[in-house]
Amino acid sequence: MPADATIPASSTKLDESLHQDRILILDFGSQVTQLIARRVRESGVYCEIWPFTATEERIRAFAPRGIILSGGPASVTNPDSPRVPEVVFELAVPVLGICYGQQAMCLQLGGRVESSDHREFGRAFVDIVEDCALFRGAWARGNREQVWMSHGDRVTELPPGFRIVAVSEGAPFAVIADEGRRLYGVQFHPEVVHTPHGAALLRNFTHNVAGCSGTWTMAGFRDMEIARIREQVGTGKVICGLSGGVDSSVAAVLIHEAIGDQLTCIFVDHGMMRAGEAEEVIETFRGRFNIRLVHRDASELFLRELDGVTDPEIKRKTIGRLFVEVFEEEATKLGGAQFLAQGTLYPDVIESVSFTGGPSVTIKSHHNVGGLPERMNMQLVEPLRELFKDEVRDLGRELDIPEVIVGRHPFPGPGLAIRIPGNITREKLDLLRKVDSVYLEEIRAAGLYDAIWQAFAVLLPVRTVGVMGDGRTYDQACALRAVTSTDGMTADVYPFDMGFLNRVAGRIVNEVRGINRVTYDITSKPPGTIEWE
Ligand code: XMP
Repeated sequence: MPADATIPASSTKLDESLHQDRILILDFGSQVTQLIARRVRESGVYCEIWPFTATEERIRAFAPRGIILSGGPASVTNPDSPRVPEVVFELAVPVLGICYGQQAMCLQLGGRVESSDHREFGRAFVDIVEDCALFRGAWARGNREQVWMSHGDRVTELPPGFRIVAVSEGAPFAVIADEGRRLYGVQFHPEVVHTPHGAALLRNFTHNVAGCSGTWTMAGFRDMEIARIREQVGTGKVICGLSGGVDSSVAAVLIHEAIGDQLTCIFVDHGMMRAGEAEEVIETFRGRFNIRLVHRDASELFLRELDGVTDPEIKRKTIGRLFVEVFEEEATKLGGAQFLAQGTLYPDVIESVSFTGGPSVTIKSHHNVGGLPERMNMQLVEPLRELFKDEVRDLGRELDIPEVIVGRHPFPGPGLAIRIPGNITREKLDLLRKVDSVYLEEIRAAGLYDAIWQAFAVLLPVRTVGVMGDGRTYDQACALRAVTSTDGMTADVYPFDMGFLNRVAGRIVNEVRGINRVTYDITSKPPGTIEWE
């Protein structure tokens, strides 16, 4: 596809207009800091999350229109706890402190914070006692509003210049404001959905107080990123590993819009995809988008190397190694390329604040193409680095990528291999594909697909006795799994009704020869993980 002539060669102008209204979120280690960013971006304002340790220079150079201080697990009453960098108050931009952020701001500006016996966790109510720019159009004086609290400490004396605008039983300084300096503090968490008007409050801060105009849209992002890719790549060649998942698909289509045939996609087909998926990838990218696509059917090789492998970590490492080898082989056949595209998302690049310290345990070795760029001496093109998953989906829709791909549940790199505990064979893969298809078909028919983060079947390495018609069966058992989640880090079991589960189980046993028992996995994460291996 030819490059779109209407898009400027330099991204600078677009870049500026999209990013000029930016908000900085300083993270003090709250579990929900990312939600602040989500809410701010949903209101059309670009923002970034940085650790509270960010340097003065970096903060000044970012030139934010406003700064939000997140919550955090520490107590400001501890002298070693994190402090707000002084530059935040020197910049004279609006500041909103949330929970720990409010307390740290108060303490540093001359107020007092104490540990309290009135700890508040969960749902609470605040009484609005004064008008405030944060409340415009959402909360009115005299009303009582629901919020979500999670704090032990509380402000007990205001810094000079502040006044109280809302109170709660456990936090007499639930919302405070110094409208002259445009400094605000809330004891509760406006970023969580359990504070029903929280998004409106944050929007008031970014739009009304900080003066952001809400120009951050996916249409704008698309144009800006296309210009950026052209600038980075020039006349160079880019290769992109396609898996059929949302992130690599969106990255590929976006890059293709930017540089057309300078992009070649490589689809390493390990033979562990779901039913019809490999065909769909080829049809979509070659057929619909006319993207250069190398399809390498490597299923024989993968199955051969996995023969006899039952340990989950060895399975994962074998698949990861083979993937890299095959990918490299195909890339070399293409004559190499200077750039490798990756669908890295913003949550992967946020510098997180950790209070636990120490090395964390490896639960699973995730399969990705890490290490490839160095091995092959390539530079990375990562057009999605600024986006959250929801935004990637919106961008995909903006690029006309079919909904079956854009709205698809996450699928692990090692594919069905980690949903077959024990040895993997072609027969087992075929059996699992059939079970999985019936299950997903029923989920879609019931209109539940989008309410679920991930749903899949697992083929269990056990045979059980059953009775069908007048005969005895001795066949395999399978497990069904469905979870809700926001990021895959924690997950809850999806509460299907028994009628639905009965229907699915009936269909599977009747339609998939070789399966005579169906179980439903009711383990949340933690203690379980989402995948079985
Ligand atoms: P677990 O099983 O660790 O999975 O609770 C969390 C999320 O990650 C996905 N997952 C993977 N994704 N490569 C991936 O790209 C992998 O090796 C991999 N292993 C697990 C899993 O499907 C879930 O969404």
